[in-house]
Amino acid sequence: MRVAMIGTGYVGLVSGACFADFGHEVTCVDKDAGKIDALTRGEMPIYEPGLNDLVAINARAGRLKFTTDLAPAVKAADAVFIAVGTPARRGDGYADLSFVYDAAREIARALDGFTVVITKSTVPVGTGDEVERIIRETRPGADCAVVSNPEFLREGAAIRDFKHPDRIVVGTTEPRAREVMTELYRPLYLNRAPIMFTDRRTAELIKYAANAFLATKITFINEIADLAEKVGADVQEVARGIGLDNRIGAKFLHAGPGFGGSCFPKDTVALLKTGQDNAAPLRIVEAVVAVNEARKRAMARKVAHALGGELRGKTVAVLGLTFKPNTDDMREAPSIPLITALQDLGAKVRAYDPIGMEQAKQMMDNVTFCNDAYSCAEGASALVIVTEWEQFRALDFDRLKQVMQRPVLVDLRNIYRPEEIARHGFEYESVGRAKR
Ligand SMILES: NC(=O)c1ccc[n+]([C@@H]2O[C@H](COP(=O)([O-])OP(=O)(O)OC[C@H]3O[C@@H](n4cnc5c(N)ncnc54)[C@H](O)[C@@H]3O)[C@@H](O)[C@H]2O)c1
Repeated sequence: MRVAMIGTGYVGLVSGACFADFGHEVTCVDKDAGKIDALTRGEMPIYEPGLNDLVAINARAGRLKFTTDLAPAVKAADAVFIAVGTPARRGDGYADLSFVYDAAREIARALDGFTVVITKSTVPVGTGDEVERIIRETRPGADCAVVSNPEFLREGAAIRDFKHPDRIVVGTTEPRAREVMTELYRPLYLNRAPIMFTDRRTAELIKYAANAFLATKITFINEIADLAEKVGADVQEVARGIGLDNRIGAKFLHAGPGFGGSCFPKDTVALLKTGQDNAAPLRIVEAVVAVNEARKRAMARKVAHALGGELRGKTVAVLGLTFKPNTDDMREAPSIPLITALQDLGAKVRAYDPIGMEQAKQMMDNVTFCNDAYSCAEGASALVIVTEWEQFRALDFDRLKQVMQRPVLVDLRNIYRPEEIARHGFEYESVGRAKR
């Protein structure tokens, strides 16, 4: 099948490369000429494990092309995916759909023959109806079907997630579109990945409901962590104890500094707006958003607490800045409000991230960026692990002790065991594990 992928970001590039790897002919389109130029030279505009090779192999085989020119790519395509950004709209938190609607208008002008237009971007219920309306208004008589096919991949494991999804959700009741979607995903279908066909609005809501549910799980365990600290329990054990129950499941029960990233923060708020507009308020999600927001600054108070309550004039070293490991994505990373709050409390901040440093530099002021964990820790009164990159899981504590002002570790991801850290002569603070 011939595929045009409109938007070559974290989702568009991975999806495009994977579809090409399945054997489809894919053209990835982006209006950012810098991105397309880089990709044409074989350079990745984002960090995602395995992506470089996947793109190189498929580009070399002639199945994956990059362009800024949308019209010819759409004209030739059987299937056109919209994978542009849907950030939170400034001021009110609604999903900003202007990129989706602009893309729909451009696509409409270029359609040629029966084409399936598929929204892969995360969009509120009813957006597919509006995309269809825009296309019909721009090109009356265009032969096309508008389908919802939300994406569930996770950055850092995106290729694996795309190729081995728990499920593929397709929102369409149009038989010809159903045929095209089945053909596109046939290689996964053969691997028995369940394809769920449903109507378009239901597919759109599934994506938001999934993200809101996962955000709820994280926030739930974070609140249980706070309680565990107060009552002398261990949240890791609580999570294990409840996660072994199949009805609950062990995933997304890791207590930490609160969720961030390019999806959960904006998608939970956008879902609240949909709820309000439809007189169906989502009280649980409202609480999740509020609790998570408050948690970010609370983590700075945790650091202050580890240092006896006072941060003024002290140096704090922060390890890990991206919103999670194995990505360079800094969107809504918990490190950002944490560092601001540490600075508000008077701390000087040093920071290190294995991959996200360039992105972080554009988003943070008055931070000393360092080349590795050990130079970051120099002169610090506390070392704070914010993102659990693999390289932080086996730190040389003797070396750290030599360079730090005071041996204090605040582990916001619970990657170490308290007794192990105590053996190294460090004071240790983690999340949801009371000091005994
Ligand atoms: N990042 C994730 O992990 C993830 C996971 C699932 C779903 N999603 C959803 O997928 C969508 C895309 O997210 P992303 O992280 O890939 O965004 P992104 O910002 O990385 O990429 C979007 C790209 O679209 C391009 N673009 C915008 N308008 C365009 C147009 N008219 N023509 C051509 N290109 C255009 C931009 O230049 C940008 O490169 C969002 O709706 C997001 O919520 C993201």
